[in-house]
Amino acid sequence: MLSLGNTYSEEELNEFHERVIKSIPDEKVEYVCELKFDGVAIGIQFEEGKFKRAITRGDGIQGDDVSANVKTIRSLPLRLKDGNYPDKFEIRGEIILPRATFERINEERIDIGETPFANPRNSASGTLKLQDSAEVAKRKLDCFLYALYGENLPFTSHEDALKSASSWGFKISNDRKVCKSIDEVFAFINFWEKKRPELPFDIDGVVIKVNSIAQQNELGFTAKSPRWAISFKYKAESGSSQLLSVDYQVGRTGAITPVANLSPVPLAGTIVKRATLHNEDQIVKLDLHVDDTVFVEKGGEIIPKITGVDLSKRKANSKKVKFIHRCPECNFELVRKEGEAQHYCPNSLACPPQVKGRIEHFTSRKAMNIDGFGTETIDLFVEKKLINNIADIYKLRKEDILSLDRFADKSASNLLDAVEASKKVSFEKVLFAIGIRFVGDTVAKKLARHFGSIDTLMAADATQLMEAPEVGQVIAASIIDFFKDPINLKMIESLRSSGLQFQLSAEDMPVKVSEKLKGISIVISGTFEKHSRDEYKQIIEENGGKNASGVTRKTSFLFAGADAGPSKLEKAKEYGVKIIDEEEFLKMLASS
Ligand code: IVH
Repeated sequence: MLSLGNTYSEEELNEFHERVIKSIPDEKVEYVCELKFDGVAIGIQFEEGKFKRAITRGDGIQGDDVSANVKTIRSLPLRLKDGNYPDKFEIRGEIILPRATFERINEERIDIGETPFANPRNSASGTLKLQDSAEVAKRKLDCFLYALYGENLPFTSHEDALKSASSWGFKISNDRKVCKSIDEVFAFINFWEKKRPELPFDIDGVVIKVNSIAQQNELGFTAKSPRWAISFKYKAESGSSQLLSVDYQVGRTGAITPVANLSPVPLAGTIVKRATLHNEDQIVKLDLHVDDTVFVEKGGEIIPKITGVDLSKRKANSKKVKFIHRCPECNFELVRKEGEAQHYCPNSLACPPQVKGRIEHFTSRKAMNIDGFGTETIDLFVEKKLINNIADIYKLRKEDILSLDRFADKSASNLLDAVEASKKVSFEKVLFAIGIRFVGDTVAKKLARHFGSIDTLMAADATQLMEAPEVGQVIAASIIDFFKDPINLKMIESLRSSGLQFQLSAEDMPVKVSEKLKGISIVISGTFEKHSRDEYKQIIEENGGKNASGVTRKTSFLFAGADAGPSKLEKAKEYGVKIIDEEEFLKMLASS
């Protein structure tokens, strides 16, 4: 996949236009102007009207096969509507994540202590790399298509190609225009620069393409990009403002984030008063002083950032911004682990935002779903010391609640009823609710299904943990750390004696489809065409088989896909373990 030449100015765009008309003298040139979607480039192959595979742009020469994940995109047809489509073709476009979804994903990531994605583009790219297509489906990626490739395509203009692709069922943006002059092109660019904040997704410019395919062929390509197309990139909107002060926020996991308070500055349709400073290194790099005049930018990133300091305006004797060493909330000394950029407040037991954050997470809808625990109520309970940790929720008595002004008899009863009802909430939700770092709702569900009970989970070592789907080294280490802490163990015992669910109930168990793989231990490795690896693991479980992580003499089969681990293959040969491929596995399942 080639890329496009970039321009940032009217002048450069005029030069591009001059080059085009010089190469095609005596002919009228039309351009198609399109939005430049800020996402991940994708090429999707179709054969006989059916989805074949989807490959990312990668480095332009080699990309990744992300078919399973791309198939989850609702707006992408997997079978085309009747029409005159070619037997074989590739359609290219951009996979994007709408801003609203991006914000939701980031809230969830912050909630479990993961670093949020910087912008929707990174978030789309991260989502495409996930192993679990069911999780990808939840994230609701979208895809705009903008180019057709294939042999002897029957179109004379780019606009015709787009219209046809749209009639076959592809999502082609209507926010495009055939322009008959360069002035119309500029009008399109200016129009969308203003309208850009109203779009539900990010764009970073406009792409201008010569409409006639014959003229495109005439113009040809340079080594890197077509001579018949160019992108006009919008500059990140920037402004200057004054640094008033720096606040330090403490998250549920104890992570400290410095935030700059700025004199208000209008940027990209909003008034910006705050900007993130990420961490100490960022402050040092900018050599930030209080009262500095700073440059603020709002580009692809949602949260504005400070990109530099106008040193010519620095006031004499202004004070350097010094990162704090004590927690602004509880005064505990902060720590910064080797290799991490973030400072943490280690006082997780008593630091108010951490205590409140954990309760908020525990009671939230996706976790224990206890109605009535809004932020203000939690603040009150924690301040009055009625709740110091999540286990205390189950020790609340009616008279305690009634001692608070805002509760009357009825509302106190309702709250206690909601607490009581939460004792029936399933194990997987309890596991999510107790707040193990990096264990989000999906991982919690997988862990619950894989281990069945908290006791088995607690007894697992790193290797066993990594046998569960979705669990890698980082999550495994975090789980082990969590269960090493005596305070967490005490909390679990207290919750257990309050009657919470710490093992899967029969309804939560994976549905047994058959016993066909009973007594069979399978190691699965590599990538597959018809299902993802996680889906196969589930299929193995549902049919009574066992997923094992390493090949031993006891392994029944090595189920190997493309790029299966070489050491696993070698071991299988050494121990005489039969290696089967996708087709053989499916046959075995069908016949046995
Ligand atoms: S056409 C030969 N049209 O921008 C390249 N690209 O900077 C043809 N992009 O890699 C690309 N919106 O990922 C084209 N409407 C659009 C686009 C678009 C976004 C991306 C694409 C490409 C990059 C080039």
